[in-house]
Amino acid sequence: MRILLTGGTGLIGRSLCRALLAQSHQLTVLSRHPETVTSRCGATVAAMASLDEWQPEHAFDAVINLAGEPIADAAWSDKRKQALWDSRVTLTRQLVQKIAAAHVQPGVLLSGSAIGYYGNRQALALDEAADGGSGYSAELCAAWEHAALEASALGVRVCLLRTGLVLSDGGGLLAKMRLPFGIGVRFGRGEQWMSWIHIDDHVQIMLRLLDDAQAHGAYNLTAPEPVSQAEFVRILSELSGGRVVFTAPAGVLRLALGERASLLLEGQRVLPGRIKASGYAFRYSQVMDALRALL
Ligand SMILES: NC(=O)c1ccc[n+]([C@@H]2O[C@H](COP(=O)([O-])OP(=O)(O)OC[C@H]3O[C@@H](n4cnc5c(N)ncnc54)[C@H](OP(=O)(O)O)[C@@H]3O)[C@@H](O)[C@H]2O)c1
Repeated sequence: MRILLTGGTGLIGRSLCRALLAQSHQLTVLSRHPETVTSRCGATVAAMASLDEWQPEHAFDAVINLAGEPIADAAWSDKRKQALWDSRVTLTRQLVQKIAAAHVQPGVLLSGSAIGYYGNRQALALDEAADGGSGYSAELCAAWEHAALEASALGVRVCLLRTGLVLSDGGGLLAKMRLPFGIGVRFGRGEQWMSWIHIDDHVQIMLRLLDDAQAHGAYNLTAPEPVSQAEFVRILSELSGGRVVFTAPAGVLRLALGERASLLLEGQRVLPGRIKASGYAFRYSQVMDALRALL
């Protein structure tokens, strides 16, 4: 297949590119740094610097939309929120406009979203039938999904990737949470749920959604066994050779991080109902096994 990816240079995108190249697909990656695409995504991958380069006669069989300014890396100022919005919602709208203008539409659009869609729901088990939540992350995800779903009206099969916390040895959450000497940090009471997924499962599920002509709508990309933050940090600390877990009080985190503290102090217990029902067998269901494989 000829596949256009946004966010192909990112943590998930790079792993996905490797898997797609192994299946002999032809890849084009949209990037603000097109000169880095071959080194980050693969020697045969074409770079696109701007969506303006996508001419209507240029056909793609599939589009995979993973771009997004990192949500946890800087304070949520108005300017930052605009960047988070533009790199997801505005970019997705532009992508759908390009799909509409193409002489031949792609058959499928896999488009990013996150479990933040569900908001802060304590211990309630959430499959794809659950309602969206409230709060900044939930509103951002809902608008991002809405923008992608506009492609359905063009006859494109749209799958929404409600992605959990991706565990990878290439960066992301693990790089941030892994401290020297196996020191662990519990955020507040640590009761908030962490719905995680190993990067290998995330990539395999995306490949499956790409190929399965029946797949459409929202999919929770999370492992079947989410854990509390306290349990996650206990296991991470133990596997890293340490046994000391400190507590970062919720009040201190709120003071230091403002609204962004919600990413640490709130959570949701998300279950991969639809992908499990499709018969997908997770390689990593237990966080202990996933972390052991990565550390
Ligand atoms: N990793 C997770 O745990 C996780 C969890 C839930 C949801 N997600 C979502 O899944 C998607 C991929 O995640 P990831 O971890 O692979 O992200 P990542 O490593 O931060 O990569 C995101 C990619 O988006 C592009 N990008 C960043 N800022 C942009 C901007 N302002 N305008 C246009 N493009 C921009 C970058 O490409 P260039 O620099 O090449 O332009 C980058 O390679 C993201 O949208 C993320 O929100 C990830």
